[in-house]
Amino acid sequence: RGKMLLDTRNRPLRDLRISVTDQCNLRCRYCMPKEIFDDHFPFLQGEDLLSFEEIEAITAACIERADVKKLRITGGEPLLRKNLTDLIARLSRYTEIEDIAMTTNGILLPKHAEDLKQAGLKRVSVSLDSLDDDRFQSITGRSMRVKHVLNGIEAAQKAGLSVKVNMVVKKGMNEEDVLPMAEYFRGTDIVLRYIEYMDVGNANGWKLDHVLTKKEIIESLQKQFPLEQADPSQPGETADRFKYKDGSGEIGVISSVSDAFCHSCNRARLTADGQLLTCLFASKGTDLRSVVRNEPETLSDVLESVWKKRDDNYSEERLKATGPSKKLEMHRVGG
Ligand code: GTP
Ligand code: 5AD
Ligand code: SF4
Ligand code: SF4
Repeated sequence: RGKMLLDTRNRPLRDLRISVTDQCNLRCRYCMPKEIFDDHFPFLQGEDLLSFEEIEAITAACIERADVKKLRITGGEPLLRKNLTDLIARLSRYTEIEDIAMTTNGILLPKHAEDLKQAGLKRVSVSLDSLDDDRFQSITGRSMRVKHVLNGIEAAQKAGLSVKVNMVVKKGMNEEDVLPMAEYFRGTDIVLRYIEYMDVGNANGWKLDHVLTKKEIIESLQKQFPLEQADPSQPGETADRFKYKDGSGEIGVISSVSDAFCHSCNRARLTADGQLLTCLFASKGTDLRSVVRNEPETLSDVLESVWKKRDDNYSEERLKATGPSKKLEMHRVGG
């Protein structure tokens, strides 16, 4: 019965994205600008955070009632959460789950990749916006070098994790890196994904002029490397896939702005403090933390009623939006 749980637009819930912390060891300009996210910023702590038992209970309810098959651990930077491998080990016991992935900046992967793989993690998506140290530092706001991220990628591969690289493309920030990134990762088994800069949260001063569109990205790549479009590998996937015609692998483009994919969106998000969000651009969610702490036996019913009412399609509507709206910030939502 519950396995046919659909929202008002007939979309199933297949993918649960679990944020385990709102903190990060980088300060990317478009996500956690350091003027705002300084030493005084009130990050979640202690009892604010869901425990691993609580995350597991919520995940189990999603599996039971909604046919969730894919989990993704996000942050902030998820590897800042203590004993994270224990959570992976708990979640990978569920046989219904076909895929457990993590989105990370990669810096701490050399320390953890092996244990994560042992615990059941299948793959990582590593964020990297430039191969140039100066630009990398100016984007990430910290004195880290590109090499630290590349070491993380290498550690993940050595451990047997599949790797994707996420590159947010923003005009005036890193357009000049579009080609060098393709050059660097083609011919490896790493899938590079270009992400249109999105208006997540309110802190990053997003403007439509900053967006390099999918069409523009593909056109500039085509000049150097002929590409052909490939079929989606999963229903509801975020990225459009393109293969290099010479057989040297594939890239993806995530075009939430110029070509929205809400019609097939099967993702829910759980914040580190237990709010269930039905859209990346949500301004509020459902407080599952109080449900799991006070009336855990009602979790499945609460989840079902939230999903049945869901009608989000923010990206399809964004250009029609009127007036300011207050959205949660990316470091809370988890991307
Ligand atoms: P795969 O499972 O490997 O396809 O990863 P993914 O694309 O689902 O997740 P990832 O965390 O790697 O996200 C890549 C980019 O897509 C990030 O910028 C996310 O914010 C964005 N993204 C993920 N899901 C959604 C979504 O439902 N809507 C929008 N607009 N963007 C999304
Ligand atoms: N637009 C697009 N992608 C973003 N990310 C963070 N902020 C934005 C934004 N405003 C990316 C991160 C990471 C993923 C979770 O989301 O770089 O790869
Ligand atoms: Fe941290 Fe990722 Fe946000 Fe950068 S984009 S500040 S690495 S959470
Ligand atoms: Fe899903 Fe919201 Fe993203 Fe649309 S904007 S794809 S509804 S998360």
